[in-house]
Amino acid sequence: MQKITRDLLHRYRELIYERYGIHYHPTKLENLEAKLHKLAERSGDLEEIYAGLLAGDPEAERALLREVTVGHTFFFREEKHLETLVRDIAARRLPCPVIWCAASSTGEEPWSIVITLLEAGISNFLIVASDLNRESLSAMNRGVYNQGKLQSTPRHILLKYFRRVDPMTWKISRELRGYLRIKRLNLMEPIVFERPFDYVFCRNVMIYFDEAARNRVMDNLARNLSPGGLLFVGHTEALLDLPPTMKKAAQSVFRRNL
Ligand SMILES: C[S@@+](CC[C@H](N)C(=O)[O-])C[C@H]1O[C@@H](n2cnc3c(N)ncnc32)[C@H](O)[C@@H]1O
Repeated sequence: MQKITRDLLHRYRELIYERYGIHYHPTKLENLEAKLHKLAERSGDLEEIYAGLLAGDPEAERALLREVTVGHTFFFREEKHLETLVRDIAARRLPCPVIWCAASSTGEEPWSIVITLLEAGISNFLIVASDLNRESLSAMNRGVYNQGKLQSTPRHILLKYFRRVDPMTWKISRELRGYLRIKRLNLMEPIVFERPFDYVFCRNVMIYFDEAARNRVMDNLARNLSPGGLLFVGHTEALLDLPPTMKKAAQSVFRRNL
């Protein structure tokens, strides 16, 4: 096992925080250490990988992000948000809602939104799904999921919107693909879309950030949300520093002022 000096551990900690906002509390450094051991096992010498990261080597970044991002997600997670979305689209009579699903991991979240809107009779909409981790984006694009991710998915929905690949695996049906645009975006970098979104989902990622990083992310989200639009965050994510342009609309839902 490669020995990890305190200096190397701190350099990784700083780089991961500066670039991606992912924060390891000083009392939780053993978590980072365990991830770096895995990185060394799978991808080689940690000093070389670190040098690669500084030089902008995409392979080094891919290897690091595979270890330090947590992509846990599943279909129809925090389903109340989906009901709020459908109600709000109807109330605002939006002819073609545009939705940004930021930090959407391997796609279970944006595909759940696509299916929910189609089931509600809404078929004119577009979702931009983004994440930092390229491997997650490839999985989202493949749209192949094992049974475990689909436990909250009713049987009739499975049969209607998926094709069975084998007894344990299902693939998103081809007709849903046109609704999703997949993009690689780092929420810590300034993001400006050509036009703002009516809805932004950014759920279960800010728990990995500290306050300063959360504020940077919030600026990105608020900047790209249209007046009157809704922001959805994870149920356990309290937003203490709301921008003055936003106010609470429901549990973990915020509306941008008109
Ligand atoms: C736990 S998953 C959340 C998935 C989904 N939003 C949900 O609620 O089920 C967190 C995701 O945040 C992504 N992530 C972490 N840091 C990020 C950053 N700086 N920019 C964009 N995505 C990031 C990770 O790659 C991971 O896929």
